[in-house]
Amino acid sequence: MRTGNQKKTGNKVFGGAESAKLLHKNMDFTAAEQYKLLRANLSFTLPEEKKCFVIGITSSIRGEGKSTTAINLSYVLAEAGKKVLLVDGDMRIPSIAKKMDIDRTPGLTNLIISGEYEDMEAYKSGELDRWYIVPAGDLPPNPSELLGSRKMERFLKAMSERFDYIIIDLPPVNIVSDAFSVARHLDGMLLVVREDYTTKKELDSCVTQLKLSNVKVLGCVMNVIKTENKNYGKYRKYKRYYKKYGYDYGYQQSSESESEQGNER
Ligand SMILES: Nc1ncnc2c1ncn2[C@@H]1O[C@H](COP(=O)(O)OP(=O)(O)O)[C@@H](O)[C@H]1O
Ligand SMILES: [Mg+2]
Repeated sequence: MRTGNQKKTGNKVFGGAESAKLLHKNMDFTAAEQYKLLRANLSFTLPEEKKCFVIGITSSIRGEGKSTTAINLSYVLAEAGKKVLLVDGDMRIPSIAKKMDIDRTPGLTNLIISGEYEDMEAYKSGELDRWYIVPAGDLPPNPSELLGSRKMERFLKAMSERFDYIIIDLPPVNIVSDAFSVARHLDGMLLVVREDYTTKKELDSCVTQLKLSNVKVLGCVMNVIKTENKNYGKYRKYKRYYKKYGYDYGYQQSSESESEQGNER
């Protein structure tokens, strides 16, 4: 998805106040439509019989748009009437609290360590009644162990009784192993790929590791697609790549030309 708001210098993307315009209710119409498309694709991919889906969101490296995707996807799911819990599982560089302008503590670490989560009303978002947000909490010395722990499993199990979707924002897989630690507690993983940002080598390493971890990759979200590229040349490049691995995928762009948006399977 490309909103045209980003400023890119080398390999860095700067957000600042501009990045708030990319989030939940502030999204422009086209961006919102793209997240709704992602929501629809997700519902086709997931089995109907499950009561709650626990979905991790990761990428190869930092800055590809995991947290932005996690916030916006959970928002459009809640908007559609689902009861959704957004969890900041990136205890290395948490960003959900900052992006949502809420306190980072108490949060996930406090909940799982204390085991006290009977009452989750304090985590209800100020935006939508059915949208709950759990920030990262106090930063632990051992995020990977905590995410893979029995305590985390118990927390997710308890939340699964109360929510339709649990969306977990995770650190990138090429940097730390946290996403793999929590993988066995997930129904699936979404992989965010930022165009012209991740190298093929990085993506290759990420995909190989995900395959080894046995996590079900539900699909790939192509972020910041260049709309001026009418033939989506770069997208095709990635598409071939995903076909090679047999993954389902979709892509997002927010563009001036909505009719060109697509979703191939
Ligand atoms: N589709 C997009 N268009 C423009 N900027 C984006 C887009 N997605 C993310 N960004 C910006 O890129 C930066 C990194 O995004 P973020 O979601 O924090 O990445 P990650 O969680 O993968 O590190 C942020 O400043 C964010 O506002
Ligand atoms: Mg992030």
